[in-house]
Amino acid sequence: GSTPPASRGGRRAATYAHRGSSGMAPENTAAAFELAIAEGADYVETDVQLSADGELVIIHDVTLARTTDAQRVFADRPPWNVHDFTLAELRKLDAGGWYAAEFTGQRILTLDELLDLLGDRVGLNLELKSPAVNPGLARAVVARLRRRRDWLTPGARPRPLIVGSFDEQALQDVHTQLPDVPVSLITYDVPAGGRLTDLAGWIFSVNPDIRRLRPEDAARVVEAGLALVPWTVDSPELWRWALDLGVDGMITNYPSALNDLLDGR
Ligand code: G3P
Ligand code: CA
Repeated sequence: GSTPPASRGGRRAATYAHRGSSGMAPENTAAAFELAIAEGADYVETDVQLSADGELVIIHDVTLARTTDAQRVFADRPPWNVHDFTLAELRKLDAGGWYAAEFTGQRILTLDELLDLLGDRVGLNLELKSPAVNPGLARAVVARLRRRRDWLTPGARPRPLIVGSFDEQALQDVHTQLPDVPVSLITYDVPAGGRLTDLAGWIFSVNPDIRRLRPEDAARVVEAGLALVPWTVDSPELWRWALDLGVDGMITNYPSALNDLLDGR
């Protein structure tokens, strides 16, 4: 093979499987997470929200319409908002058939089920999704994680837990209550100078949109001492470009192909 492309300081960039290996399996399902682990992802990235009865469930959209069969099973309950359904109702749904028939039978997972599935095989980048429509989400995640000491003990895991969000207040809530857990600001654009400096005092990483990332903004993140991990980076051209910018990792729907590139295969 060819020489593997290096990233900052010659360290290998980390691969974050976006919603699991979601280019090859239905996003945010056990099938996608197992595939990501099999493909050697360093982390899985996923999205957590609240059900109507306050359970933490793994799903990206604020509605069930795109990634489940809710429109058929609960035909009388549009617009199928996740937070209008109890966990018992969510468990009735199929979360794989929309992607391909062979994945029929995949279910929406709870956060606890996800942690059990991952074990110590891979890191977790957990996104608090849409706290504005999931009031109490940060508090619920903190409460749940406090009962999972295995995920909270610093240094106990080769690849740790990172909590991310577009919502800075939700990140602050997590950081205040769980100061040992690294937090990551997901964003379209890298914050301006003064705000980035303030953030660097307490956050671990920045996840900017690769489509909008300018080299000078990437350099500012690196200079601020923050990890730079853009989303969602899905082509060899973009992987090489991001590595040239000094990324510490990349969030991708195709962790297997990215690992091949990083390993010079
Ligand atoms: O980690 C960043 C990325 O997941 C944010 O976008 O919409 O896929 O959650 P989205
Ligand atoms: Ca996400």
